[in-house]
Amino acid sequence: MILILGGTTEASALARLLAARPEIPALLSLAGRTRQPATPPIAHRIGGFGGIEGLTRFLAEHGVAAVVDATHPFADQISVHALAACRENGTPLLALRRPPWQAVAGDRWTEVADAAEAARALGSTPRRVFLTVGRLELDAFLDAPQHDYLVRTVDPPDRLPPRARLILARGPFAEDDERRLLVEARIEVVATKNSGGSATYGKIAAARALGLPVVLMRRPEAPEVPAVETAEAAMAWIEGVVGARRR
Ligand SMILES: NC(=O)c1ccc[n+]([C@@H]2O[C@H](COP(=O)([O-])OP(=O)(O)OC[C@H]3O[C@@H](n4cnc5c(N)ncnc54)[C@H](OP(=O)(O)O)[C@@H]3O)[C@@H](O)[C@H]2O)c1
Repeated sequence: MILILGGTTEASALARLLAARPEIPALLSLAGRTRQPATPPIAHRIGGFGGIEGLTRFLAEHGVAAVVDATHPFADQISVHALAACRENGTPLLALRRPPWQAVAGDRWTEVADAAEAARALGSTPRRVFLTVGRLELDAFLDAPQHDYLVRTVDPPDRLPPRARLILARGPFAEDDERRLLVEARIEVVATKNSGGSATYGKIAAARALGLPVVLMRRPEAPEVPAVETAEAAMAWIEGVVGARRR
């Protein structure tokens, strides 16, 4: 069985490719953070494994032939766990990771290491901020309560900074809609993560078009594992693993 660690657009795309290949048994694993995830087209499970030990045991007990780590580039813990568990069991591991966005002419980015640094980078003068860092990173902005935030998340956050308005929405987001949103809300700065991919790039392109600065959280260091950027490339790798086991 092939285990896909998911929670991303790329993992969903790979699941769709695998759904068309029923002779390759595969299981998609989701962390369970999204309250109403779309129903995957292949077998799936939801919830943590219980650390490195739990995942190591899971791989052995389920006879996992290979793992594709298609988790989000900011989900750094599960990727470290996947590497350790696969090493322990001698299980082949591939990372399916979309490349980060690269600045182009007209972008006004301040790159920062994490949410705390992003909150500081907004400065002491109150500004109108479009904040899309994910609901689990919002607490850092409680320390910068002087700003007016327009916060967008998929699921409702537990806490918000005091001067915040919340939009609940799931991408993809088109550049034109993002531009309209930024104008209507009189946004002065965008604070977000360098997620990469096209689904959430609209706000980056819209900020550039409007000449707005962007405070951009850099990705955490990814473990050194073979990596591809597309679901098709991951599928080709899976076919290679399956073929090698049959020979
Ligand atoms: N971080 C983001 O910005 C972001 C954005 C979009 C989507 N996501 C998705 O949301 C999920 C959680 O992200 P995170 O940043 O909280 O992860 P994380 O910090 O790397 O992982 C925290 C714990 O969540 C569990 N976990 C994470 N991904 C899992 C998966 N695919 N299947 C089963 N368990 C999983 C593991 O629990 P155990 O130790 O108990 O195994 C892991 O130790 C991931 O699937 C990721 O792809 C994250």
